[in-house]
Amino acid sequence: MSWIDEAKKRAAAQAVDQVESGMVLGIGSGTTTAEAIKIIGKKLEDGQLRDIKGVPTSYHSIQEAVKARIPLTTLDEYPRLDLGIDGADQIDPHLNAIKGHGGAMLREKIVAASCRRYILIVDETKLTDTLGTSQEVFLEVHPFAITPALKKIIEMGAKATVRQAAYKLGPVITDNGNNLVDALFGPIEDPRELNGRLHSVQGLIETGLFIGYADTAYVGTEFEVKQLKPES
Ligand code: A5P
Repeated sequence: MSWIDEAKKRAAAQAVDQVESGMVLGIGSGTTTAEAIKIIGKKLEDGQLRDIKGVPTSYHSIQEAVKARIPLTTLDEYPRLDLGIDGADQIDPHLNAIKGHGGAMLREKIVAASCRRYILIVDETKLTDTLGTSQEVFLEVHPFAITPALKKIIEMGAKATVRQAAYKLGPVITDNGNNLVDALFGPIEDPRELNGRLHSVQGLIETGLFIGYADTAYVGTEFEVKQLKPES
């Protein structure tokens, strides 16, 4: 196992230390969150945690939570969640993030916005001074709008493509029935401003720019876990 896999597990374990019995959790998506889900499952099994419920952010996180025997619920039953735990593709010193490499950012952002506390868990290769440096921004777009939206995103200065499926012909269809655009803008000086501009593209449903949600990040390095708080 690589040090990155170990670092993800250690970061996940630190985040799960923040989970208390009785909490309703936002359950993110991705390989790092999958480690947190497994640890929560083990703690439920051995009685260290009880009465936990989770709102999953993708079919993948439903599968992982079911395997871990974490009871699932919905935002309709719990519109306000105690704690969200999720991975990220890139994090800056303000704990703003790019998410969506797994295509789950629409539900992930809805859940992030519903959490009283929101923790990101990553290995240290995900840290950057400036979001967008060698990292695409992932965008969910309604299929009816995909061609004009792609044109507008390219006119905004991005190198952008519609993500193609790996084991099926044609574009990726998300859990919500939409397409994905992967857009490389380069270093983003003002992610909040770019997020707003992207939202003005008709048919663009959500961006992978997560601005101002996280209050803590646990970052696994080769030998330890660092706790980061947002720089102001
Ligand atoms: C899913 O769409 C993403 O937002 C993931 O949370 C993100 O890509 C991080 O995934 P890993 O933990 O697998 O790197």
